[in-house]
Amino acid sequence: MNDHGTEVVLLMGPPGAGKGTQASMLAEARGLTKLSTGDMLRANVRDGTELGKRAKRLMDEGVLVPDDVIVGMVRGELEAMSPVRVLLDGFPRTTVQAEALDALLAEFGAPIDAVVELVVDSDELVRRLVGRAAEEGRSDDNEETIRTRMQVYMQQTRPLLDYYRDQGKLRSVDGVGTMDEVFDRVQGTLDEVRA
Ligand code: AP5
Ligand code: MG
Repeated sequence: MNDHGTEVVLLMGPPGAGKGTQASMLAEARGLTKLSTGDMLRANVRDGTELGKRAKRLMDEGVLVPDDVIVGMVRGELEAMSPVRVLLDGFPRTTVQAEALDALLAEFGAPIDAVVELVVDSDELVRRLVGRAAEEGRSDDNEETIRTRMQVYMQQTRPLLDYYRDQGKLRSVDGVGTMDEVFDRVQGTLDEVRA
C-alpha cells in the first residue's frame, strides 16, 4: 500500500493464461476488489440486459466489445472505490482502453503499481480452455471461437505489453505450474514492486 492507500494491479495474458484464477486468489490475499470485464459482461448476458444482448453476439464470436461500453463499466466501478484498490482482469485490451484507464486513474489519484503478464505456451492454453469447456460449458470455449480469441489477443491486446514495458510497469511471470505455484510467483513479484 502507498501513502494514499491505493493499489492497482493489472493481470494480462492470452485466453486461458489463468488471469481469472489468479485474480481471485490475489484479490483475496491483497485486500483488493477483483474487477473482471469478462465476468461483468457474462453477468449482463445472464441477466438479459440490453448490454448483455449486444455483448453476447460479440463474445460468442470471440471479438471485443466496443471500447466505450467497457470503459463506461470500469469507470462506474472505480468511482465507487475510495481509495481505489483494484485488481483488473481482462482490462485493458486495446490502446484506447489503456489510455482511458490512465486518464481515469489520474483523476482518482491511483497510479498503476504493476502489470503482470502471465506467460503460458499455446499448447497449454488450448489444453486448459478445452478442459474448461468440458467443466463449465462457457459458450466461447469452442475451437473456432478460441482461435479467434487468440488472434484478437495477438493483434489488439499483446501490443499493450510494450505500452507498459515503456512505462516500466511490466512484470512477466511464468504462468505454467500449479495454481499455487503461479500465485506464489506473482505475490513475490508484487511484493518486490511495492518494497
Ligand atoms: P474474458 O472473460 O476476459 O476471457 P479471456 O481473456 O478469453 O480469458 P479467459 O477467461 O478464457 O482465461 P483466463 O486467463 O481468465 O484463465 P482462467 O483463470 O479462466 O473475455 C471474454 C470475452 O468478453 C472477450 O472475448 C470479449 O468479447 C469480452 N471482453 C472481456 N473484456 C473485454 C474488454 N476489456 N474489452 C472488450 N471486450 C472484452 O483459466 C482457464 C482454465 O485453466 C480454467 O479452467 C482454470 O481452472 C485452468 N487453470 C488456471 N490456472 C491453471 C494452472 N496453473 N494450471 C492448470 N490449469 C489452470
Ligand atoms: Mg477469465
